[in-house]
Amino acid sequence: KHSFNIAVIAGDGIGKEVMPEGLRVLDAAARRFGIALHYKHIEWSSCDYHAVHGKMMPDDWKAQLAGVDAIYFGAVGWPDAVPDHISLWGSILKFRREFDQYINLRPARLFEGVPCPLANRKPGDIDFMIVRENTEGEYSSVGGVMYEGTEREVVMQQSVFSRHGTDRLLKFAFELARKRERKHLTVATKSNGIAVSMPWWDGRAAEIAAGYPDVRWDKQHIDILSARFVLQPQRFDVVAASNLFGDILSDLGPACTGTLGLAPSANLNPERRFPSLFEPVHGSAPDIYGKNIANPVGMIWSGALMLDFIDQSGTVGRQAHDAILAAIEQVLAEGPRTPDLGGSASTTEMGKAIAAAVERATSSTRDFT
Ligand code: NAD
Ligand code: IPM
Ligand code: MN
Repeated sequence: KHSFNIAVIAGDGIGKEVMPEGLRVLDAAARRFGIALHYKHIEWSSCDYHAVHGKMMPDDWKAQLAGVDAIYFGAVGWPDAVPDHISLWGSILKFRREFDQYINLRPARLFEGVPCPLANRKPGDIDFMIVRENTEGEYSSVGGVMYEGTEREVVMQQSVFSRHGTDRLLKFAFELARKRERKHLTVATKSNGIAVSMPWWDGRAAEIAAGYPDVRWDKQHIDILSARFVLQPQRFDVVAASNLFGDILSDLGPACTGTLGLAPSANLNPERRFPSLFEPVHGSAPDIYGKNIANPVGMIWSGALMLDFIDQSGTVGRQAHDAILAAIEQVLAEGPRTPDLGGSASTTEMGKAIAAAVERATSSTRDFT
């Protein structure tokens, strides 16, 4: 009954180093909670695959993934080999769009034992969820270059916000806020400067908010919102944002909690018509690849989110998630830690320690549902 098919795509760079640790911890949790995980290891979606085949994925990629319960994804991109817009639009961005993974859920939390770059912050002061729109907005490929190569050259690119796309994002964010203790939502906007789409976003938020009288909410311009992530992070509970604003906030948020290496993400198709995808927020990190020093926590935490989401019974998946989170908390507090956390442990050592702690862990805080 608790049996799932997972497509495993490690991708490029440190994706290849953190993925084995993610699987190690998933396996430990699966053993402990009686979950059967069947992995389908897939080579495509990497720049290595591109070098051989001239494209990131085979043409029938969608058919090949039909029926998987989720995709567990490392990172993609190797700019020296393939231009980023080619590799990313040929893989991760394609999954998000074609599988209608319109929610990109990205938690940021300050843990015990992790040095915080913000002064005087302790665990509990930073604990929020970014709900990033993941299929439209500023990431539309609508546009073009005119008068190319001349002095009159002009480049244009549209942002596309549909009512359908914006409303479903906002509803998800309000629902999530409703389930959390503080029941607060901040909507990222920029209605002073971006005077067409952003006042419209404000209007959509106000209309949706009327259905959630129990949720307190506010809207903040993205510039001051970013400043408050640094100055007053305790103000935030759930933050809803467009695709680009959410992208930026989801590097800034985890940076405020010490390192990008901790940050997980869940690219969700909440209706489950298509597989959802779970990946760390970080990329392939060419600058540290090959040294076995990447922090595996973002990958591991993403696996916890995956187990929670795919198990619709809401029992073992949730328990496995909580056990993994407790194990992460314990290892962050006691070590071993990778260099980005101030330690000197390897990726493998940290992954093994978390897997061992999963065998013992009991419970932890919730992420979603
Ligand atoms: P990056 O996230 O790969 O790295 C940014 C910085 O953070 C680097 O200094 C890196 O060493 C550090 N870092 C990242 N993850 C870490 C970890 N787990 N532990 C310790 N340190 C970590 O971003 P970038 O350098 O802008 O991009 C590199 C490549 O990755 C590019 O091709 C980019 O397009 C791609 N990328 C892919 C994804 C994805 O697959 N979802 C996300 C972001 C970037
Ligand atoms: C992320 C990444 C991607 C994004 C890039 C690699 C296209 O930065 O997952 O946050 O912008 O969404
Ligand atoms: Mn990003």
